[in-house]
Amino acid sequence: MSGFRPAWVEVDLDAVHHNVRALTQVAAPARVLATVKADAYGHGAVPVARTALAAGATWLGVAFVEEGIELRDAGLDAPVLLLSEPPAAAAPTVVARGLTPIVYTEAGIDALGHAAASAGTTLPVHLKVDTGMHRVGCRPEAAVTLARRVADHPGLALEGLATHLAVADEADPTYTEHQLDAFDGVLAEVTAAVGRPPVVHAANSAGALAYPRARFDLVRVGITMYGIDPSAVVAGAVDLRPALSLHARVSFVKDLPAGARVSYGLRYELARPARIATVPVGYADGVPRGLGAAGAEVLVAGRRCPIAGTVTMDQILVDVGDGEVEVGDAVVLLGVQGAARVTAAEWAERLGTIPYEVVTRLGGRLPRRHVGGGLQEDPGGAEGGTAW
Ligand SMILES: Cc1ncc(COP(=O)(O)O)c(C=O)c1O
Repeated sequence: MSGFRPAWVEVDLDAVHHNVRALTQVAAPARVLATVKADAYGHGAVPVARTALAAGATWLGVAFVEEGIELRDAGLDAPVLLLSEPPAAAAPTVVARGLTPIVYTEAGIDALGHAAASAGTTLPVHLKVDTGMHRVGCRPEAAVTLARRVADHPGLALEGLATHLAVADEADPTYTEHQLDAFDGVLAEVTAAVGRPPVVHAANSAGALAYPRARFDLVRVGITMYGIDPSAVVAGAVDLRPALSLHARVSFVKDLPAGARVSYGLRYELARPARIATVPVGYADGVPRGLGAAGAEVLVAGRRCPIAGTVTMDQILVDVGDGEVEVGDAVVLLGVQGAARVTAAEWAERLGTIPYEVVTRLGGRLPRRHVGGGLQEDPGGAEGGTAW
């Protein structure tokens, strides 16, 4: 932990290593792309990327050029896929930093082609087809024309064909099967026109686990490598270990009488005298303001204790009841303490969101403490140790 504020995110790289290793085994012979966008879903992009590669992932995936640059600046030379087409102005940088862009517009293809040709190199690109998510990607009818445009461009090579699944984490398979049928059709047409792109990919974590036909050559896993199930429907298929936990230490303690009301809005009233602990982490750190009102609890001395009232910008109040608590005592907001556990899925359930949002919102003001090395090749073998 750096600095003076006793609040931090701990990331267990051995858990990441275990999860990626398990996912590579499920996906084989397809390869694994580790999705490390959004600072590796709040876990720290560079150490997580290193660990994922050591565990058998062969690709990294990011949303934005800047995220790819961070990986390159850290010395990572694995293929880095930009999951959406980069802005035309970024094309020279994409080429210079050796990032692999997704493309789906003529303008995007031409900008990258010109940048690669002027640099005297050939840039591999992946064509993304919209088979039903309707976020990014070309229309299925346009895929062959765009594939030809790539293939005909002296600066480009069509390395990949991709799509993205909208509801692979839900129980009804109808729409996902429809998307995969459409993708199979596009793949056949593109293959007939320009040859089969060597890296075909469609699956996120849920797709990779629930739809073996979606694995193709590469699966793009994100949430599962962090040890979180994509949904209640797609759960339990692989032994996953949560990598992230959120910790703090009590900064102040007071005893209050029955009837006292606490925090902004005075919405939490004590039914009996209670010890209230202040913990220095708040909504500016990504602990949602309404978490207390939603009934959330934190762990103190291995016991679940309610968040008392409104989460403030930098601090929460915790109702420890008649329990013992002192300044400096350890508090777990997410993770395990003794036999008790609070998961990101539990917060998500209380807040009406998904665990993805819970972990990615944990802000940059919280130091990340990475533990475990994640470098061991044999899960039962050599000691990990923090190697970075
Ligand atoms: C294009 C794309 N592929 C893969 C992923 C990884 O998804 P998941 O975290 O559900 O495995 C994402 C994440 O949102 C994505 O946008």
